[in-house]
Amino acid sequence: MKIAFFGAGQIGSALIKGMLHSNRISASEIYVKGGHSQTAANLQKELGFQLLTNLNDLFEMDLLVIATNNNNVLPILKSLPKTVLDKKIPIVSVAGGINLIEMTSVVGADYPVAHCIPNTPVQVGAGVLGVSFTKNIQPEEKEFILKSLSPLGAVYEVAEDDLGIVGSIAGCTPAFVAMLIESLGDAGVLHGLKRDLAYELVEQMLQGTATLALENKLHPAVLKDGVTSPGGSTIRGVAALEANNFRHALIAAIDATMSE
Ligand SMILES: NC(=O)c1ccc[n+]([C@@H]2O[C@H](COP(=O)([O-])OP(=O)(O)OC[C@H]3O[C@@H](n4cnc5c(N)ncnc54)[C@H](OP(=O)(O)O)[C@@H]3O)[C@@H](O)[C@H]2O)c1
Repeated sequence: MKIAFFGAGQIGSALIKGMLHSNRISASEIYVKGGHSQTAANLQKELGFQLLTNLNDLFEMDLLVIATNNNNVLPILKSLPKTVLDKKIPIVSVAGGINLIEMTSVVGADYPVAHCIPNTPVQVGAGVLGVSFTKNIQPEEKEFILKSLSPLGAVYEVAEDDLGIVGSIAGCTPAFVAMLIESLGDAGVLHGLKRDLAYELVEQMLQGTATLALENKLHPAVLKDGVTSPGGSTIRGVAALEANNFRHALIAAIDATMSE
């Protein structure tokens, strides 16, 4: 299985690292075409993949992943050699602002293209990926793309119109959760814990709470109620959060990510 990546910036490098982390693909099977800076070359020294300089080498690939900013996507598609287009090598674009219709207007309505929004935990195989497909895609092409993305985390097929909100609640939120870890860590330090230990306790708690919710398919309110004994410390904390508009703060934050 050979994968070519266009772009090795924030999300491109996270996707490449995730593929390597899974051990299902080796550095010798990953090819990266960088942009104008040394970003891709520097990452190549660290991870040992192949740098791609000749677009004709794309013919050897099984999958193309475009991880550049929006304005580069259509020019990249226009630059693909005819041999690649004729072979219909599946394309996955993770660029937020270029949709499937715009992409197929370049490569053709029957070309297998996916629009995917991943989050940065893909780099440790614990990502969330929303993915939408062109309407003419063949079932086996769709299966191949879904299987190829699966080492990166949990993959959800969604309508392309929903990719924005999927990107907000799963793609932007790692930043919010990092702030949550930092804040709860500060609280731990305030009450005498060593900083490293405080962060690790919070990180383990988040992972455990998410695992409990996922494995038992628990409604979040049931999870919360299970921790709040009458007159206890947790319900006092819940009331303090409500007094500080915790829920509204989060909903407003997601709302802000959705506005231009
Ligand atoms: N960051 C995230 O968490 C995230 C999540 C989901 C989706 N996305 C989407 O992913 C896209 C990239 O975001 P990013 O945060 O990774 O941006 P970024 O860090 O700026 O990376 C973009 C990379 O694309 C490279 N590039 C530009 N033109 C190229 C070309 N013609 N061929 C090959 N590579 C080229 C750039 O290389 P040079 O700098 O060397 O020119 C740069 O390293 C955006 O559309 C964003 O909406 C990002």
